[in-house]
Amino acid sequence: MAVIEPLRWADGRLALLDQRALPDQEIWLTCDSAAAVAEAIRAMVVRGAPAIGIAAAYGTALEARRLAPQRAAPWPETMAPALAQLAASRPTAVNLFWALDQVRAVLAADAGSDQLPQRLEQLAQQIHADDVAANRRLGDFGAALIEPGSVVYTHCNTGALATGGYGTALGVIRSAWQQQRLAHVLAGETRPWWQGARLTAWELMREGIPFSLNVDAAAAHLMRERKVAWVIVGADRIAANGDTANKIGTYSLAVLARHHGARFMVAAPCSTFDLAVASGTEIPIEERPCDEVTAVRGIAMAPRDCGAVNPAFDVTPAGLIDAIVTERGVIMNPTEAAIAAHFAGEAVVPKETAI
Ligand code: MRU
Repeated sequence: MAVIEPLRWADGRLALLDQRALPDQEIWLTCDSAAAVAEAIRAMVVRGAPAIGIAAAYGTALEARRLAPQRAAPWPETMAPALAQLAASRPTAVNLFWALDQVRAVLAADAGSDQLPQRLEQLAQQIHADDVAANRRLGDFGAALIEPGSVVYTHCNTGALATGGYGTALGVIRSAWQQQRLAHVLAGETRPWWQGARLTAWELMREGIPFSLNVDAAAAHLMRERKVAWVIVGADRIAANGDTANKIGTYSLAVLARHHGARFMVAAPCSTFDLAVASGTEIPIEERPCDEVTAVRGIAMAPRDCGAVNPAFDVTPAGLIDAIVTERGVIMNPTEAAIAAHFAGEAVVPKETAI
């Protein structure tokens, strides 16, 4: 399996693979402060919900290291501006806020400790390692749902680049491929950032997984003509009732899947659930600059001053989701009660054979 990493921590420095330059160039950028990491998240150098959370955790470790020699107040106070800056970088992926909550707990527990920078470094490394382990587990749970010989459709990039490594929806696809369950993958290009074309295609090619890239508008046609068995996507935030925020276009795919008899799977670690949010209407949806719609890499694709709207995510209602797969198992036909039971340890574990 190809080793693909979105970030590396070495000698107290964080290196980020600049995902804006892929697939043409592999450029690594070095960050030495929380402000630099926050800017990298905002600018999409690092993206994908779990990867954003991991990067933010490392960002706090960098900041603690930087501030340690001049610290004049307890750690929670010293670090508050950095946490606020990271929290303001992007609003939708809850993994960011989940990681910062863990950082806050360490700051409170070690408020006066000289060991705090090391503690935050260990925490970030733990979050990173746990995410890779969760991806592998949920990948296997998801793969078990896929009938051998299936055509599946995926959206955006949910692979190693979007996580600590391996991937969520793409992790399911990786596992299903290793288990010889996949005939073909259809990957939507995912405008306006082209995560499907630039990143998912890059990962699938490196893995040797058979796939075709398609324009997003071809989804309905392909679902009918290619007999898609599963649409498999990731998530940025899952509400207590199962409503799921993910890359813009996901909701359309869920509607299309229901119409065409394809099943719809959301693959995400438990860190992507926000049980404090009752339903999708409460999930903040990021609006990004209009020039991301009207131009591609600086080349105008629309008339000058053309108005545009650029929601980065949408919410798929739980009723359109057949399965949510986490590292704890599978939630079939998600409802508030089924999700609560999943977290209470009563996960429905898939059988060995596909359903
Ligand atoms: O804007 P992005 O590229 O950060 O959006 C990414 C997605 O929507 C992914 O599907 C989601 O974060 C899950 S990644 C494992």
